[in-house]
Order: sequence, then C-alpha cells, then structure tokens
Amino acid sequence: MSFKTRPLASTIGMEVVGLDLSEPLDDATLAEVKTLFNNNGILLFRDQDLTEEQHIALSRRFGPLQSHVLKSYLKSDHPEILVVSNILDDQGRPIGIGDAGQLWHSDTSYIAEPCHCSLLYAREIPKPDGDRTYGDTAFASLIAAFEALSPDIQAKIADKRAVHSYEAYYVRRQKEGSKRPSLTKEQQKEAPDVIHPVVRPHPITGRKALFVNESYSVRVLDMEPAESEALLNELIAFGISDRFVYRHKWRKGDLILWDNWATQHLAIADYTLPQRRLMHRTTVLAR
Ligand code: OGA
Ligand code: MN
Repeated sequence: MSFKTRPLASTIGMEVVGLDLSEPLDDATLAEVKTLFNNNGILLFRDQDLTEEQHIALSRRFGPLQSHVLKSYLKSDHPEILVVSNILDDQGRPIGIGDAGQLWHSDTSYIAEPCHCSLLYAREIPKPDGDRTYGDTAFASLIAAFEALSPDIQAKIADKRAVHSYEAYYVRRQKEGSKRPSLTKEQQKEAPDVIHPVVRPHPITGRKALFVNESYSVRVLDMEPAESEALLNELIAFGISDRFVYRHKWRKGDLILWDNWATQHLAIADYTLPQRRLMHRTTVLAR
C-alpha cells in the first residue's frame, strides 16, 4: 500500500494521505506508519469511514486496548470505545464524556504505566461558520518542549519526579464549575496517585519528553511546596508555547492517532448544544 505525507506543524504531526483504514494495513505499511508515528507524535488520517469494529481492529494493531475508569461512557457492545460527546440521549442523559480534555493533558498520565496512544475518530462535528470551526483540539510536542528548554533548566529537572493524580483533575475542574460528579471511592481506588520522572525518555525512541501537564501533575517530589508549584507552573506554561503546538480543525471522518508519551492535548470547548460533537476514542495500553 502506498501513501503520501504532509507535515501538520513545524515540531509536531504528520498527515497521512491515501490510506483507507477500514481495510487491514499490510505489515510493511503498518511498520512504515509506526515509524512515521514515532517520529511525529501525531498522525492525521482524513476522510475515513469506519465501523466501530474497524476502529477497534485498527487500534489493536498498536497494542492491547484499555477500558476507561468511567465505565458509563464506554459503548456497552464495544467497551474498548470511549464516547466523547456533548450529546444527550432521549432521557436527557449524556451519551459520553461531555467535557473530556478541557485542560492540557496526556491521556492516563495518572496511571503507573501511561497508555501509549489514543485513536480519536470524528463521527459528528459542529458545523463551521465559514472559516470558524468549533471543537478544535490542540496538540503539543513534549519532546520539542524538552529539547527547547535551556541547558540550566534541563539540568535542574534531570532527576526530578512528579506526582500525577486523576483526582486532581476533578478538583481543578470542579473549581471552574464543571458538573462532573466527584469520583467514587472505587474509582479513586482504581486510579491512585502515581509518580513519573519529569524528564521521561520515550519508551520506544528514547527521546526525552517533558512529561508534566496541567491536568494531572500536582507536585515535584523533594522540593518545598512553593518551589515545586513555581517550577511546575513554569514547565507547564513553557510546554504549551505556540511553537510546540498544532491546532486541529476537525472534519467528520478524521482520525487522529496521538502518542501520549510524546505529546499532550487540549479540547477547545467553544460550542454548545444544539451544536453536536461525537467522537469515539480507543486507547492503547503501554503493553
Ligand atoms: C480525549 C480528549 C479531546 C477532544 O478524548 O482524550 O482529550 O477534543 N479529547 O475531544
Ligand atoms: Mn485526552
């Protein structure tokens, strides 16, 4: 199978043109796609027409799949699919996570072995007004960010470790008025706080990533609280500088594969019903 490529931004992302993902990729093509993926952090495939089964089958080529802690938003017939949507069912209940990713994050950085990648497929996207699109997603390279830090800061954080907490995200979002219910004791137990190096070598490429994010990273170990907070704020603000970011304007049929070990992302929540957005996500475990 042959395809063409087109860079999405200067430090992150590649579009893959000419592959139909509803058909299984042959092994040679898959290997080429994986190399491209490892080198670019996110891959965009446009104009895809996938069944849920095809989305899952494609995802499995990258590794075993996760079933998310928010069980009520998994498709009951396909628990590998997490529904990310603002749509309500006929009883007025959300059919999926309505406020996913509204702070910068790498998916599941709050678990001991964060998931490798996520495949988000756009089934319904709010209609644009001319050039003005709604529900964009921004992606930033953690690797470009690390590499652009000054040698002083790189040395300062070389051996630092940070605590990541799933609960912290809830606390932050509730402060901002999110309507999500608090986590149950069981959900908390399923997602206890974890520790990751601040400079985390990518498990496949070995390239160093600045592995902190505003959703889940709560403090740097072995530092005074004020110092830890100042350092985290500085790193987090630096990591989302424009030069590390690609902002995607979704079209129905887009599939984006992103590397949670090399990138972070942010959902832009600038739409409300009756504008409808329906995305399906699969998530590939670390192993
Ligand atoms: C996610 C996520 C962002 C979006 O599904 O992991 O963060 O724009 N989604 O829907
Ligand atoms: Mn996410």
